[in-house]
Amino acid sequence: MAHYMRGLRFLFIAVSALSSVNAIPNGITLFDPAGDFDYQIGGSFTPASSVTTVSRDKDDSPAPGLYNICYINAFQSQDGDDKTWWEQNAANLLLQKNGKLVIDPDWDEYIFNTTTAANRNALAVIVEPWIDECASKGFNAIEPDNLDTYTRFSQLTKADNLAFARILSDYAHSKNLAFAQKNTAELQAADKTTGGFDFAIAEECAVYNECSAYTALYGNHVLEIEYSDNGIDYFNQACAALGAQIPINYRNRNVTPKGVDMHC
Ligand SMILES: *[C@@H]1O[C@H](CO)[C@@H](O)[C@H](O)[C@H]1NC(C)=O
Repeated sequence: MAHYMRGLRFLFIAVSALSSVNAIPNGITLFDPAGDFDYQIGGSFTPASSVTTVSRDKDDSPAPGLYNICYINAFQSQDGDDKTWWEQNAANLLLQKNGKLVIDPDWDEYIFNTTTAANRNALAVIVEPWIDECASKGFNAIEPDNLDTYTRFSQLTKADNLAFARILSDYAHSKNLAFAQKNTAELQAADKTTGGFDFAIAEECAVYNECSAYTALYGNHVLEIEYSDNGIDYFNQACAALGAQIPINYRNRNVTPKGVDMHC
């Protein structure tokens, strides 16, 4: 099955290359959509031999010889350990309500306040060194998480988050790193251009029936993750719908090294 799907995927890519939707900046490379993808942001492990692309946390090391994507939290603080640092050094750059810092209740993370140019520039001074770290470790691309904070917190706007994304994508591109649109299926082609995104990483798009929103903008340069707590049916549907075109990874929700890890 896996070989059959990869063969199909290769054929699709050969045909669709004729009408490529992506204009990639000079010096930037994208992953090979014909290979499999492993989402390893909850801890790294040696991938199956069919895997050619991985995403790992910036504190991890790249997988030798593969296309490596570096995960950073670019629109909220990283869970847990650095909350005190943010409180002490950059509370004025975080979303506040009634004099208190706003928290993402799911992850216990503070939300970046991107609403002014001064805030965005000051936040970039904090985030760009993380991109430097990814570049010096040898990663090929950046996965900036939580672009969608503006859909969850009404004090933020799409335009301001895209403006911040653009500062970071320009910076990543200057280091020869590709830059992903993470989730946020409602974005349009004009938003892709504004943000400077090169490819997409989509979680659970089969569950929410929005995978085609990503392939419409990025062709086969979309990496899809479906989670096992939603059930295997969504993964099987995802493989039937897009397994011949894009890499799809089935994982346990916490993406831990010893967890579920399957490919179409
Ligand atoms: C966001 O930052 C701006 C500039 O410091 C500030 O005026 C505004 O009150 C902040 N908004 C929220 C919701 O924290």
